[in-house]
Amino acid sequence: MRVLVVGGGGREHALVWKLRQSPLVQKIYCAPGNAGIAELAVCVPIAVDDIQGLVDFARKENIELTVVGPELPLTAGIVDAFTAVGLKIFGPSRAAAQLEGSKVFAKRLMQKYGIPTAESRTFTDVEPALAYVREKGAPIVVKADGLAAGKGVVVAATLEEAETAVKKMLVEEEFGAAGKRVLIEEYLTGEEVTVLAFTDGDTVIPMVSSQDHKAAYDQDRGPNTGGMGAYSPAPVLTAELLAQVEETILRPTIAGLKQEGIVFKGVLYAGLMITAAGPKVLEYNVRFGDPECQVVLPRLQSDLASVMLAVVNGNLAAQQPVWRQNHTACVVMASGGYPGPYEKGQVITGLSAVRQHTDVYVFHAGTTKQGQQLLTNGGRVLAVTAWGDTLQEALDKAYRAVKAIHFAGAHYRRDIGHKATAHTEKAKG
Ligand code: AMP
Ligand code: GLY
Repeated sequence: MRVLVVGGGGREHALVWKLRQSPLVQKIYCAPGNAGIAELAVCVPIAVDDIQGLVDFARKENIELTVVGPELPLTAGIVDAFTAVGLKIFGPSRAAAQLEGSKVFAKRLMQKYGIPTAESRTFTDVEPALAYVREKGAPIVVKADGLAAGKGVVVAATLEEAETAVKKMLVEEEFGAAGKRVLIEEYLTGEEVTVLAFTDGDTVIPMVSSQDHKAAYDQDRGPNTGGMGAYSPAPVLTAELLAQVEETILRPTIAGLKQEGIVFKGVLYAGLMITAAGPKVLEYNVRFGDPECQVVLPRLQSDLASVMLAVVNGNLAAQQPVWRQNHTACVVMASGGYPGPYEKGQVITGLSAVRQHTDVYVFHAGTTKQGQQLLTNGGRVLAVTAWGDTLQEALDKAYRAVKAIHFAGAHYRRDIGHKATAHTEKAKG
């Protein structure tokens, strides 16, 4: 099978790496890819949102399966465009992708089908929004409706912060169209966990759990990023809680969409808060998380291409993906300044030494090659991933590799997995 992967970050490197191991896959293209992906696939310079360009390429190259990494093309209808001309593509339609593309759409679905989530109201006018904020008090959460590259959520500790966020979105239109509607919601407390699931619109098969680290610095301090690291499994999600998540969140979401006439095919990402009252949805995404993908896929023992084809063909019920009983950890090495402004073009060294390390794989996020030199080319540069029999073993291997890799300004979190360690300590008593 000839496969095209759309995207060029750490998530897509992990997708390409796993698909490369499939006996069904002969050749992989990636648009646009990065320097790491280029070692496993043919990279083609087509932007992820150039949907016509991607359709034309897939037809010309007789691509038999296209796999979409990022949300942008999904919300723009890439799946509809491919399907319309008879091309197989893994991902949700534009209608189903509204689950991520519009937080108002997602909240309405949850409210209608009784899916546990934060209490929330939607506003388009500033005065009633401010009145509601004052009525509810802080802490409170303000969210732009549309896609805002992870920056559209303000967890306000004070009334002043909440009011500023509302005004920025509704008056100053800082997020453009994405912020013309805002949700104001109840502040939830607990521990966060990510549950990804394969679904063909009927059958829902959860993957192993993981936990992201969104804040830039140790102890969850500093501004939010795309994700500074992850590990799997996340002990906060016990087998009992996972069963509850399946029953009360994953299945009702897919069934609710179906009731609305929308068939969701692809990966459903449930970003959850494990509250004292049980798991509640913070957000849905309609694709693998980045960096969650980098810790989840290495634990998949089964063939990813077979599972993806089953999703596309609507016969996921016949699949029983098998997972390894190991632990994975991923440490993201980011450019100096990220998530604020940062410089590109720093020389990266040490990767050839890390190739000698066992149970480690370095997924590239923002890299490019100039001659023989590997250069930084994004905010998140590398996703250094390792596995072992315990989380501690995986973390030790990942950090040993991180210490062997160098580029000017590199920063990374030193406390990936700290919440899991706390669970282990508690269990020991
Ligand atoms: P989202 O993009 O909706 O997942 O929000 C980004 C981050 O904001 C989440 O990962 C949480 O850390 C935080 N967050 C979102 N909604 C809430 C909420 N209702 N209560 C507390 N924290 C939240
Ligand atoms: N790691 C969170 C995301 O992919 O949106």
